[in-house]
Amino acid sequence: MSNKIKVGMLGIGNVGRGTYQALEMNHDKIAETTGLDIEIVKILNRRPQIDRGIDIPKDKYTADVDEILCDPEIDIVVELIGGIEPATEYMARALSNGKSVITANKAAIAANGKKLAALAQENHVLLRFEAAVAGGIPILTSLTTALLSNRFTGVHGILNGTTNYILTQMSEYGKSYEEALKDAQIKGFAEADPTADVEGFDAANKLSILISLIFGVDASPEVIPTHGITSVGINDIEFASDYGFRIKLLASAREKDGKVYGNVEPVLLPLSHPLASVSNEFNAVFVSGNAVDDLMFYGRGAGPLPTGSAVLGDIIGVARKIEKDSAYDIVPQLRYDSGLEFAGEGANKYYIRMMVPERTGILGKISTIFGEHGISVETVRQNSPYECSGETVADLIFIVFKVEKSELLSALEEVREAGVIKSIDSIMRVEE
Ligand SMILES: NC(=O)c1ccc[n+]([C@@H]2O[C@H](COP(=O)([O-])OP(=O)(O)OC[C@H]3O[C@@H](n4cnc5c(N)ncnc54)[C@H](OP(=O)(O)O)[C@@H]3O)[C@@H](O)[C@H]2O)c1
Repeated sequence: MSNKIKVGMLGIGNVGRGTYQALEMNHDKIAETTGLDIEIVKILNRRPQIDRGIDIPKDKYTADVDEILCDPEIDIVVELIGGIEPATEYMARALSNGKSVITANKAAIAANGKKLAALAQENHVLLRFEAAVAGGIPILTSLTTALLSNRFTGVHGILNGTTNYILTQMSEYGKSYEEALKDAQIKGFAEADPTADVEGFDAANKLSILISLIFGVDASPEVIPTHGITSVGINDIEFASDYGFRIKLLASAREKDGKVYGNVEPVLLPLSHPLASVSNEFNAVFVSGNAVDDLMFYGRGAGPLPTGSAVLGDIIGVARKIEKDSAYDIVPQLRYDSGLEFAGEGANKYYIRMMVPERTGILGKISTIFGEHGISVETVRQNSPYECSGETVADLIFIVFKVEKSELLSALEEVREAGVIKSIDSIMRVEE
């Protein structure tokens, strides 16, 4: 005889539909393997007149959130409306009312996870958010269960399917950024307003959550240096390919000497790195632990059913705790107590592309300025000259050895002020 677990769901958009559908598809299998009879009994639907493209009994819908948050029969509230508010307020109210909360909302967890986790603990209930990082990939559960014995030294993630799709189309089919973005929008991989994805903000929210789980450090998205992909040009992609690299938007963090360094930016990855072959809309997370060594998780980071699978996994996990009445002994996933400090980007190897006039002496001047800043050049290359605004110019490309980003930027400012170049068009980290 299965134990009934009643779930209230807020929102019936892409992930709401995917979660409902995944439960419909696999309800009997879940009951068979876990003994749990999970039912989504109420759904917040603010526009019940709209066809949601899924067959759901009308009496499950309510436009009044209190019918879910205050229903004593409901054990678990699943928040799938997105955005920071009112999602945070609804989750806080559900937790205060003694209900466990599951969400796919990285923006709300990155902004208010600390407050919500404390509220969950106070009320002896659970807060879970597997779907918030890398969609269908069970990275958070793995880090906090099977991999808990490890001390992690680093994490690198391709955490945004939209930008990975655009960069793949640029590298593999020679499309411009604009063409690749349009294509992503037509195929449903990019939103009409792609800002949060292409500027790296979405990946920064996810990295903030990973840093808390992996390193026990509070690094809010605002303090994580974040650069998107809008300035990546075809010239960069070609150079990367000629020199055995692929450009990926990476969300990375690593620990060294008591400090955690991290950022989100387009990076030149050697083709031999496992993340270099992660193409199109797929996501992947590469973690290094001191016992398990290197490990890569790969899969769909978005989409109704893959994300619904992660939400449903959390529902089953929480339902099992409720069934055993053991929610109170669960350690929160988010941690901020390791004593490590978040210290920004740290020293890295960099790629720099600048446009210069066709003139002698420029390379010497730039090398002198780099030398004065302690910057050593590993590779320099000048591409064939071309015409730009009636002038003959060329792309000058450097790879420089490890340097603090602030030092590099101050050297480049001096190069700019010396008036010997037209523009600095690209600065990217080179992953070793
Ligand atoms: N899409 C993915 O593949 C994916 C993957 C991982 C995580 N996520 C996260 O999952 C969450 C949901 O994403 P989604 O793609 O499913 O979004 P979506 O398709 O826009 O669905 C959001 C749903 O919430 C409803 N809603 C929004 N604000 C509301 C409010 N104030 N009151 C009541 N209902 C409200 C919307 O109603 P209307 O339809 O009436 O506007 C819609 O039904 C987000 O946090 C997102 O970051 C999404």
